Amino acid sequence: MSAKQKNSVPLRWRKEVERILITDEQLVRRVKTLAREIEKDFRGREMVVISLLSGTVMFLADLIRHLNLPLRLDFIGVSSYGSGTASGELVFTKELRLDVRGRDVLLVDDILDTGKTLSRVLPKIRALEPRRLKICVLLDKPARRVEKIRADYVGFAIPDFFVVGYGLDFAERYRNLPFVGVLHPHVYQ
Ligand code: PRP
Repeated sequence: MSAKQKNSVPLRWRKEVERILITDEQLVRRVKTLAREIEKDFRGREMVVISLLSGTVMFLADLIRHLNLPLRLDFIGVSSYGSGTASGELVFTKELRLDVRGRDVLLVDDILDTGKTLSRVLPKIRALEPRRLKICVLLDKPARRVEKIRADYVGFAIPDFFVVGYGLDFAERYRNLPFVGVLHPHVYQ
């Protein structure tokens, strides 16, 4: 397959997805190096990985299989209300179950956009008094930030494109695409 073919949107998605921003190969490579960075910082200590539903599914599955240290996994369900592009009202759909007091915690999310989600989630976790709390996101869109939030581990910093795939959705669709692609504006306008 030529490089051009590898980077072109599969025919099935071409009407909805304008172009591939991050290929599946780039994702595989970066997720592995991110895992190495995290492993080094956590120095083999057992961690609690808290993942925010649902956009993290693919990233989380790929990341934790490369984390060569003991961990426990839990989820927080949080979603911006509605299916539009703007981050609206936040609704908690699942609360944390594991006890994280005194533990090393890695919070994993797919994208850090306005920062509103993490600005609601972080105080909830901090109130549980973990020993350490680090944030890992696959994508960071600094141009859209309205809250003062910074991730400790970032897979890719990206410009302000509407991206879908590899877990990220628009109106719950496109999560299954194996790459991160830019959605055609006609889909969401
Ligand atoms: C997305 C994403 C982040 C959040 C980032 O979640 O998964 O959690 O938005 O945006 P912010 O920084 O502007 O708050 P969404 O509410 O779309 O739910 P999902 O994970 O189920 O897609």
